[in-house]
Amino acid sequence: MQTKAIDSTMARTFRAVYILPLLFISGHAHFFFQNHFFKFPDPFSRFRHEPRGSADESSESKNTNITSGYNGEWELVSENSGVSSMHAILLPKINKVLMYDATIWKISKIPLPPHKMPCRIADHTTGELDCWCHSVLFDIETSKLKALEGIHIQYIFILQTDTWCSSGGLTVDGNLVSAGGNGGGANAVRYLSTCPTCDWREYSTALADPRWYSTQVTLPDGGFIVVGGRGAFSYEYIPPEGQSNKKALFLPLMQNTHDQLRGVDGQIFFTLENNLYPFVHLSPDGNLFIFSNNRSILLDPASNKVVREFPDLPGGSRNYPASGMSALLPIKNAKAVSAEVLICGGAKWDSFYFAETQKQFLPALQDCGTIKITEQNPNWKIEQMPSPRVMGDIMILPTGDLLMLNGAKTGTSAWNDAEDPNFVPVLYRPNAAEHERFKELAATTIPRMYHSSAVLLPDGKVLVAGSNTNDGYEFDVKYPTELRVEKFSPSYLDPSLAQLRPHIIVESSDKLINYGKRLSVRVRSKEMILNKDEVEVTMYAPAFTTHGISMNQRLIILNLVDVINNVWPGVHSIIAEAPLSGAVAPPGYYLLYVVYKGVPSVAMWVQIK
Ligand SMILES: *[C@@H]1O[C@H](CO)[C@@H](O)[C@H](O)[C@H]1NC(C)=O
Ligand SMILES: *[C@@H]1O[C@H](CO)[C@@H](O)[C@H](O)[C@H]1NC(C)=O
Repeated sequence: MQTKAIDSTMARTFRAVYILPLLFISGHAHFFFQNHFFKFPDPFSRFRHEPRGSADESSESKNTNITSGYNGEWELVSENSGVSSMHAILLPKINKVLMYDATIWKISKIPLPPHKMPCRIADHTTGELDCWCHSVLFDIETSKLKALEGIHIQYIFILQTDTWCSSGGLTVDGNLVSAGGNGGGANAVRYLSTCPTCDWREYSTALADPRWYSTQVTLPDGGFIVVGGRGAFSYEYIPPEGQSNKKALFLPLMQNTHDQLRGVDGQIFFTLENNLYPFVHLSPDGNLFIFSNNRSILLDPASNKVVREFPDLPGGSRNYPASGMSALLPIKNAKAVSAEVLICGGAKWDSFYFAETQKQFLPALQDCGTIKITEQNPNWKIEQMPSPRVMGDIMILPTGDLLMLNGAKTGTSAWNDAEDPNFVPVLYRPNAAEHERFKELAATTIPRMYHSSAVLLPDGKVLVAGSNTNDGYEFDVKYPTELRVEKFSPSYLDPSLAQLRPHIIVESSDKLINYGKRLSVRVRSKEMILNKDEVEVTMYAPAFTTHGISMNQRLIILNLVDVINNVWPGVHSIIAEAPLSGAVAPPGYYLLYVVYKGVPSVAMWVQIK
């Protein structure tokens, strides 16, 4: 007892003597860090005006009108990604793309080294082993691979739960949390920290319902919701690491959109589903927009109540295996926040039946619907894409435009159920005049259909990987398992626009930002002055992409407070206002871009808390 009392007195003294001054110093360090004018002498300080009182809330997206005729460019950056990239996400801090597929095939292109410990026992009855790596980190600069499984000092480390058709998202600290999968992985939650030597941590009973083909979305407080999945007409919140959920919450929408074919006798003879990997977007009002098949609702995650039902989106089915694409259109960080959702392509509701049973591939859908999810009684607005697309990926670009790519023109998701790969990416400019929104860009030559993925990179290029329409790794077939990795340069990387490209000076810009507070970004530019009306600061949340769905993808267009030109010759200071809340931008890591006249800088990682 006595020792304890002494210990605690000592602890208190220690805290007072050592920790308080440390806090004081770090408080000052923070002050210096924030105040960048200490970093550069400021020759123009006499002319510098103070930032205006109110942020520019009317800031419409300053959309690009690139008329240079440059339609983008493809480059092959790797012949072998080691595993076929079924799931992909750019990880902050280490700046590498995590790619992983499934353990079910017990194969990849990376054998694990022989070791005295057995690899994963894939089948407990036969004792069959899986001695292959299924997850890698892909270096976006060098295209080098790092296997995430292998021998670690004492033991051999390998994924134990099947990640096939799982979901993913990033924590506030930039670590990956992946939910669900197949078989023994269906109720699993896995963690992968972004450190050079980190392993997967797996909890196979974390979720109450099996989550195969479910969608994971980050909430305003940084937690996650997981929605739907095969046979799971429900949702649940991911519990703290190591804990397990007892019960999921029933979601009638998932049941009501589960398509089946019935014969004249009323008996079900074929299950279409069309409700897997539902599109879920966090609205800036804190509600969740959930779209399944052709219906959608707004769910309040605080009360678990459905607060709005939207009209059906006509034209066909949009979710797996009818696999369309969806994005939350860029959010303007104004006080009265509004948000719009885009849904494009997909397949007729019974296409999967014809693809699966007769290998007859019906044309994919060619239309897009947009809906204002923050309005009381909104309606879908319909537009036509230049070509039909199923299993496509849609990436939000740093400029606020969107890029549609990958996928096929006929058929549906699943093994060998599609034909006519759609090689042509399409730029979608939501703020352009109605008939000028779509633009076809340069075609690739590599089919990217089922199980392909796409990732927006800090330099504004889009990394494209995967495609495996085979039940296993097969190379001697019409559409082989794809291991090549490409990068696509969108129109804004036109070499003739290079002059406009701002260059963020990372050392003298704010990288830790707070809700609603001002942040300052310094850029170097070849332009003499940056006209404030042509400057945009955007923040992109890295998307977890699989099966044509990009979970947690969002772009926030910040309120611009001021642009102070030539704080140092050729160096300009941009003052913006950080997103106002976790509903606008959930806490975590973002790629921050400065866009000038439609040309984005290379991004800088920022963390908002
Ligand atoms: C939505 O899909 C269901 C089948 O799941 C269908 O009965 C209904 O007619 C569709 N609605 C529209 C507007 O197409
Ligand atoms: C883009 O520029 C072209 C050529 O100047 C013009 O015809 C077109 O209307 C412009 N589009 C938009 C959306 O501003």
